[in-house]
Amino acid sequence: MTSIARHFEDLYGRKPDVIAEAPGRVNLIGEHIDYSEGFVLPFAIADRTYAAIAARKDGLVRVASHQRRERIFSIDINDVKPGSKGDWEKYVLGVIWSLGLNQGVDILVDGNVPAGAGLSSSAALECCVAVGLNELFSLNLSAPELARATQKAENDYVGMPCGIMDQSVSLMGKAGSALLLDCRDLTTEAIPFDVASAGLELLIIDTQAHHALVDGGYAQRRADCESVVAKLGLVSLRHLTLNELEAARGQLTEIEYLRARHAVTEISRVMDAVAALRASDFKTLGALINGSHQSLRDDYAVSCPELDVAVSASIAAGALGSRMVGGGFGGSAIALVNQKDIEKVKQSVLAEFEAKRFKKPRFFTSLPSAGASATRY
Ligand code: GLA
Repeated sequence: MTSIARHFEDLYGRKPDVIAEAPGRVNLIGEHIDYSEGFVLPFAIADRTYAAIAARKDGLVRVASHQRRERIFSIDINDVKPGSKGDWEKYVLGVIWSLGLNQGVDILVDGNVPAGAGLSSSAALECCVAVGLNELFSLNLSAPELARATQKAENDYVGMPCGIMDQSVSLMGKAGSALLLDCRDLTTEAIPFDVASAGLELLIIDTQAHHALVDGGYAQRRADCESVVAKLGLVSLRHLTLNELEAARGQLTEIEYLRARHAVTEISRVMDAVAALRASDFKTLGALINGSHQSLRDDYAVSCPELDVAVSASIAAGALGSRMVGGGFGGSAIALVNQKDIEKVKQSVLAEFEAKRFKKPRFFTSLPSAGASATRY
């Protein structure tokens, strides 16, 4: 907190008005279902991104990042619209644009959410800027409204057709709980997720793989789902049952059928996972996590060799469950592991990665943490 304020003052020659923070996320279960109006069960991680912000009286917008040598990017507020200049700054400019700001600001960001690991560093960046501006300009927007605004920033300004999960959990996450999020209306329920007292740990395995399919593959999956919705005359895949899908199989291509089967079965796995958590039945939770991975790998085809090896090596070394998280084609996997087996699981993953000559993976753990917040400085 104080270090970002000091850096802000060194950079811009005055104190910030507001300091905000927002976390990255891990999704326990409910993958590639947010844009089909499904239910998801992510939690906010401890790692977060911070934004120090001050209002300006003119129309200048200045943005800098401590991770990028604090190089100042400047743009007139009237030029902040889709197609503008900017690289990573577009995540910040997109939020300024989607909130309809009409005056200048100075912004410095800093943080420790690992980038490119599939832990939603981009949502953390968007959300800390959004809650900071909400506080600074007394916009009085609710968390769901901020989630829609930050998603719009990413969809229409950055050009990534993401769903609503990452921003929602970054804004609304609760310490100690996973967040059951209804992606249709953004209502939430905190589901206590106390792995530690059950003698467990949730290991995050960053495969360090980034496959070129990431952007095109994601958009294609969304298009496949929309095509099923159109052909079957549905509002969304949320409204489809497995029996209806089987009955309608002849109307769909094989790919469409498989994508829809993932969506339908993943929603029911989320509901079963909530029941398992409520009963502290971690064995069942582990089996559901495994089922999610198989479905993402076989029906949805968004896994990759590195993710599959991370998952199989974890399970072979005793993990209760393991699966890829996030968009896929690289990024991270999670493994639910007995604390006494953590080292064994890490060694198993390391050995398999080495044998396959994959890049060395990184390991993290995180307890479910609080969502975004902002304070006047
Ligand atoms: C990315 C997107 C999310 C969600 C996941 C897959 O993280 O940003 O909206 O679709 O992939 O569950």
